[in-house]
Amino acid sequence: MDFRRTAAEPWFFTGSDTGFYEIEYRNGWEIRQMSRKVIIAGNWKMNKTGSEGRALVEALLKEVASFSESEVDIVVCPPFTTLAQVAPVLAGTKVKLGAQNVHWADNGAFTGEVSAPMLKEAGVEYVIIGHSERRQYFGETDETVNRRLQAALKAALKPIVCIGESLEEREGGRTEAVLRQQIRGGFAGLDAAAMAGVVVAYEPVWAIGTGRTATPEMAEETHAFIRSELAALFGAECAAAVRIQYGGSMKAANARELVAQPDIDGGLIGGAALEAAGFAKLISEALAR
Ligand code: 13P
Repeated sequence: MDFRRTAAEPWFFTGSDTGFYEIEYRNGWEIRQMSRKVIIAGNWKMNKTGSEGRALVEALLKEVASFSESEVDIVVCPPFTTLAQVAPVLAGTKVKLGAQNVHWADNGAFTGEVSAPMLKEAGVEYVIIGHSERRQYFGETDETVNRRLQAALKAALKPIVCIGESLEEREGGRTEAVLRQQIRGGFAGLDAAAMAGVVVAYEPVWAIGTGRTATPEMAEETHAFIRSELAALFGAECAAAVRIQYGGSMKAANARELVAQPDIDGGLIGGAALEAAGFAKLISEALAR
């Protein structure tokens, strides 16, 4: 006798469209299997002036014309000054706009910083928080990551929060302890509903800009660990909904095998996002997983 039947319903944490539960009934028990929508984001870092950025997104829109928005979220994160020229080109298109940082205050005496209301008015939807380059060179800590995250959520910006270990930490066997600390500090005070809307980017520092990618197996093992930590803190249902991107020398040649891993839901791309055709190729490889 076969008691199984399947159905799909949108997940209900935020009412957003980032995934579906496959519901399966086994002997009367409901089993929920999350299928998460792929998210590929380009972090341009300190590259592209306004006019260069505009040319890049104009070319990118042509390249991604055939991709379906129901299959993938595509995001680009230009430098602050480039946002103004890129935003009108992307408005209403399938490529979403992100920023690379956000301050925790709405305004005030914080020279050099940019606030969430400023980003919202500039047409920004996503924001990267706690990138390792900010942790390494600009004194970002888990506490400031958490404050920026709270501000982003308050303003209904979609946060992409970066975590990751250094080479020394990996070689010293401290990867899990480092990630656990970043997760507990960075996501402190969030409830499961808020956490379900956060994108986590696992970026091993030793793989960023080095051409040295984590193997799919190594990345998957770490992603699965991150998901188990989220489950311990926020519950299994929330952990199943959170999208976890891989970042660190992801390119068209390795995107497919990385995103094919069960706990890798997309990528945060540096160098390979700076050229339209190559970035579009990477997205199509990820979708072919
Ligand atoms: P690369 O893709 O250039 O290694 O950079 C990764 C990264 O830091 C994205 O945020």
